[in-house]
Parts: sequence; structure tokens; C-alpha cells
Amino acid sequence: MTSNMERIRILRKEKTLAREEMRILLQSMTEEEETFLFRQACEVCSLYYRKAVFLRGLIEFSSYCRNDCYYCGLRRSNSRAQRYRLSAEEILACADQGYELGFRTIVLQSGEDPFYRDDDLCRLVAGIKDRHPDCAVTLSVGEKTRESYLRYFQAGADRYLLRQETSDPAHYRYLHPPELSIENRKRCLDDLKEIGYQVGCGIMVGSPGQTPDHILDDLYYMAAFQPHMVGIGPFIPHRDTPFAKEKSGTVADTLHLLSVIRLMLPMVLLPATTALGTIDPRGREKGILAGANVVMPNLSPSGVRGKYLLYDGKICTGDEAAECRHCMEMRIAGIGYEVKVSRGDWCGMGGMQ
Ligand code: 5AD
Ligand code: FES
Repeated sequence: MTSNMERIRILRKEKTLAREEMRILLQSMTEEEETFLFRQACEVCSLYYRKAVFLRGLIEFSSYCRNDCYYCGLRRSNSRAQRYRLSAEEILACADQGYELGFRTIVLQSGEDPFYRDDDLCRLVAGIKDRHPDCAVTLSVGEKTRESYLRYFQAGADRYLLRQETSDPAHYRYLHPPELSIENRKRCLDDLKEIGYQVGCGIMVGSPGQTPDHILDDLYYMAAFQPHMVGIGPFIPHRDTPFAKEKSGTVADTLHLLSVIRLMLPMVLLPATTALGTIDPRGREKGILAGANVVMPNLSPSGVRGKYLLYDGKICTGDEAAECRHCMEMRIAGIGYEVKVSRGDWCGMGGMQ
């Protein structure tokens, strides 16, 4: 009979596990098995990235969204959400401040806000690249046409984050209104990869209706898609959404999945997310110790931070960019890792920077 220790060894060696073996591994783990899993994940990570944790400066530039995802506090039906848009000047000033603080990756994220047309987004990307050619620019602005993605790429965008949320069509329909589909989401991810972006996909852990089979489907989807980045964090309910009364995902499930993803995709850039830091005050540190190697401190102006609320209880909404930068530096140093502000490209691109 295979033990969980054995399963973890096989997973590390083969970068995959048979579905039923993976199911058993994720179902329950002793403390000893968990510690072993985390250690294997950290070892694999350090083969490629040593003890580096990459920082990305996140600018949440608009809280308007045309979508109505049932889990998200920014959904258009949430009339209590506070909406804001940053101007191009404000966004560039934020990016400049991030650069001063040492960030060499700027992530531009927003709800799906048609106010910013493709020309506007291209000008923004080109503006940042022009002022800071040594910076990588990551976009996270949702589903677009292939032509739009191509235009942003030609304007200089390097990376794109778009979680699939769940690769199961029925579960996708359970989480989203009818106008959104997993087919289009996957089409977007395929387009982004073909165009040449470093692409990030991902899921929420413990989202309403999620079953172990959904998680297995997502893991094998990721193994087939081979993303450069994977964003996973616990689902956390937002009081003004249809899922207000649902339970949050757990820290343990999120950490186990971070480790498993690290073992399946050894070179992946894997953030310890703000959502993980929200359900556990040491969540991000625990994430790094489970195999994550990226954190994304907030660079948004402090006046708007409390308005970009995907879920309840989000941390760091009262801080200044410099505070977040230094807070993360301390936290990461505290667990024996070293903050890197270099671009931190996916190491399959030609070595660690
Ligand atoms: N809890 C946790 N994560 C959420 N996201 C959206 N709403 C929530 C929530 N309530 C995640 C989604 C999205 C990313 C930007 O934030 O996975 O892709
Ligand atoms: Fe924002 Fe710690 S990361 S205050």
C-alpha cells in the first residue's frame, strides 16, 4: 500500500500523480506528512530560485467592473461597492513610486472596466516601459479579444494574470452569471500564451460548490497548460454578494495545494496571496514555507485601497506603499528568505535574474 510519504516522493520525481493517488494525498495529511510535503516543495523551489522571494508592486487602478461574478465584491450588482478610477497620471505616479521603492515588476489590475479603451491601456503600458525599461509590466484586466491582448503585448506588456477560477464547466456556471463561460476563459489563456506572454492562471481554494474532483481537474488543467505563474488563494466571502453566507477556504488546503503545484510545476512563479494573508496573520509566510516564491504588496494610493474589496477583511488597506514594502521585507527576512526586487522572470526564460 502506498503511503502519503511515498505519494509525495513520487509527485516530486514524476511531477504528477495518478488521479486517485492525488485524491488520497489531498484528502487528509498527518502533521508529519504535511511537514514533509512543505519541505519537498521548498527544496524544489530553491533548486531554481534559491531562497529568493520576488516582490511585485500591485496597482489596483479601477474598482468598476462590468461583470457580475457571484463571489466578488466588485460585481456590478453590488451597489454598496465604492467605485473609483485612477487617471493615467495617477497610475504613472504610482508606478514611479514603486520604482523608487525598488519594484521591477508593476502589476496593473482592475475590474473589467470598459472606460479604459485598448489605446488607453497601451499608452499606460508603454508609458511605464518608457520611463522604466528595466521593469516588467503585468496586466490583470480580465477577458479581452485576442487582438486586444496582442496590442497590449506589442505595447510592451510582459505578463498577464487571468485565473480560470475552476476548469469544470458546471462549477464555472455556479460561480458566474450566464454570459461568462469557461470556454472563453480558456480561449483567453490560450491566446495569451500563444502571443508570448508569461501567463498566470489559478483558482480560489474552497470556493462555493468546489469538490475534490474540481480541484483535481484544475491541477491537471494546469499541468497541461504549463502556466508561468499560478495564483491561488482561499475563497473569502464578501458580505454584499450572493455568497455572503458561504464558508471561507482553509489555510491548510491552500498550503497543501501550493506545495502540490510547486511539485507539479517546479519553475512556476507562485504568489503567497493577500487572501492567504487575510485568513491567517502569518498566511503569506506560511505560503512561502510551503513553496510559494512571490508576494505582491499593494502600491495603490492609500485613499483608494479600502475601495478595492473583492472579499471581507482584506489586509493592508490602511497602509502606504512604503510601509507594505518594508513590512514584507521584514516578514520574509524573518523566515530566512531574501526579498528580490529584480524582474524575477520565470526561470525557464533563461536563468534567474
Ligand atoms: N475571495 C477570494 N478571492 C477572490 N477573488 C475574487 N473574489 C474573491 C473572494 N471573494 C479572486 C478571483 C480573481 C482574483 C483577482 O481575486 O480568483 O481572479
Ligand atoms: Fe502591506 Fe504588510 S504587506 S502592511
